[in-house]
Formats: sequence, C-alpha cells, structure tokens
Amino acid sequence: MYNLLKGKKGIIFGALNSKSIAWKVAEKAFEEGATFTLSNTQVAMRFGEINELAEKCNAEIIPADATNLKDLEHLFTKSMEILGGKIDFVLHSIGMSLNVRKGRVYDDLDYNYFLKTIDISALSFHKVLQTARKLDAINEWGSVLALSYVAAQRTLYGYNDMADAKAILESIARSFGYIYGRDKKVRVNTISQSPTRTTAGSGVKGIDGLIDFTDRMSPLGNADAEDCANFCITMFSDLTKKITMQNIFHDGGFSSMGMSLRAMTQYNKSFGEDVEMNLE
Ligand SMILES: NC(=O)c1ccc[n+]([C@@H]2O[C@H](COP(=O)([O-])OP(=O)(O)OC[C@H]3O[C@@H](n4cnc5c(N)ncnc54)[C@H](O)[C@@H]3O)[C@@H](O)[C@H]2O)c1
Repeated sequence: MYNLLKGKKGIIFGALNSKSIAWKVAEKAFEEGATFTLSNTQVAMRFGEINELAEKCNAEIIPADATNLKDLEHLFTKSMEILGGKIDFVLHSIGMSLNVRKGRVYDDLDYNYFLKTIDISALSFHKVLQTARKLDAINEWGSVLALSYVAAQRTLYGYNDMADAKAILESIARSFGYIYGRDKKVRVNTISQSPTRTTAGSGVKGIDGLIDFTDRMSPLGNADAEDCANFCITMFSDLTKKITMQNIFHDGGFSSMGMSLRAMTQYNKSFGEDVEMNLE
C-alpha cells in the first residue's frame, strides 16, 4: 500500500454488498489510510451487508436517502463530528431505475418512475454537492466523484432511462465543478466505468451479452470493480489535484473503439450460425 489517503476523511455512499463498487472503494480507502463514514438507505441496510464492511473498515454507518436534503445535512454534519473535521473525499455510487426494475421499456416509460430515476441517480449528486457547499463541509483540494456509464454519450440497448440520468449526472459534475473549484478549490468528476456484475449492474437487460461484448471490444478488456476502486483512490489522492469537471472513461478503451478483431471474429461466427439457422 502507498498511504495515498493518509489523514484524509471521507464519505462513501452506495456499499450494498461485497459486489458493490463502493464496497471495494471502502476497502481500498481503508488500506490507503483514510477514515470515513459509510452511507446508504435504511432499506439497503436491512437487505445488504454494510455492517460487515463497517466493522472491517472501522467506519460508522450513517443512513441517508440521497434524495433527501435533511438526511444529507445530517450525514455531512455527523460525519464531520465523527471524523473530527472537514471532509476530503466523497464517493457517490448511487443508481436505481424503477422503469428498469419493472420492465418498462424506453418507449413506454412510467413518468413517475422516470422522475425517480433522475432524482435518485442524478439530482442526488447535485443535492450532495449543494449540501456540502452550504455547510462548507469539504476541504480545499477535496475530491468528489460519481460513477457513470458510457450510455450517457452512446445508445446501448436496454439501458433505458438510466442513460438520461447519467447524461445529467455528468453535466452536474461540470456545472458544479466550475463553481466549487472557483470558490473552494474542490474538484468534481465522474468516472465512466465498464459494465460490472453488481446488484445494480445485473438489473441491466442482457448484462451477460453486454459484458462479453465490451470485453471483446476493449483492447485492455473490461475494468472490474476492483480496478474501479483503485482508480477512485487515485482520484481522491493529491496526485490528481488538477483534474476537475471531467468524465473519465475507465473502460479498457471501449469508448474509443468501433470494431475489434475479437468482436469481429465472434460476430462472423454468430453470423454464420444465423445463416445456418435460417437455412434450416
Ligand atoms: N455495475 C455496472 O455495470 C456499472 C457501470 C457503470 C456505472 N455504474 C454505477 O456505479 C454506481 C454503483 O452501482 P453498483 O454497480 O456498485 O451497484 P450497487 O447496486 O451495489 O449500488 C447501487 C447503490 O445505490 C444505492 N441507492 C439506491 N437508491 C438510493 C438512495 N435513494 N439513496 C442512497 N443510496 C441509494 C443502493 O442502496 C446501492 O447501494 C451506480 O451509480 C451505477 O450506475 C455501474
């Protein structure tokens, strides 16, 4: 370990179980010398395994619905009290779509669900930032990160209204990043992560095919949750002090590819099978 986060204080949202990206980030942040609080919804606490993580990382859990401003205010105030000072890093690792969960397709959306998707998966990031800013809860050169997906820029079958939420999320990082950087030297970024087998990830339609496809398309292969955690740690550290207002692809190169040899080979194979099937 490199002690990259020695003396730093943080808040980590979104660790549900050991597959969660936030879970891996918490483990690595602890290894790198950080102290932090963990937060998730009451429901997630009942069904998840966050207590186990808290014990392992010597962290206190503070429940909060990230769409609720009062909860967020309490979370920041209490975290500063527990950790003994202002916060240096925040991970927003939160996403949920009821349209995806209930099988509503993009041209037959339930608009109440749609608003919830946007509130939970995008506006909550603004709420976290605004709450922190008003409480002056983040130290200079602090680093705030949210996790995004390439569907913000490109259409991927089945990602549904989460694509719109991610586009807003990335825009919030730019808009708030300007203000927070200008006034307090706090940096705000999003990381656009490869498809990953987590609880949220498994909800995406055709996730197995998608993971195989992006892996074949990416020269370095998919980035897994642990790779993502390593990258988050560097983004929280002082080694990346001048990065702000960015959406950084952490996807083995997928976002710059059009076609790869491995994907083409597989495509040709299945095309052959298709033809054979059609001939039968
Ligand atoms: N898994 C993937 O393929 C993938 C790819 C790119 C980006 N991401 C993003 O990574 C982030 C973390 O997801 P994950 O894959 O680790 O899955 P996960 O299911 O482990 O984490 C999602 C978390 O969001 C929390 N959450 C939901 N509603 C909330 C609310 N109102 N307030 C606070 N927390 C709430 C859940 O309790 C859960 O802990 C999400 O933003 C997701 O969109 C995931």
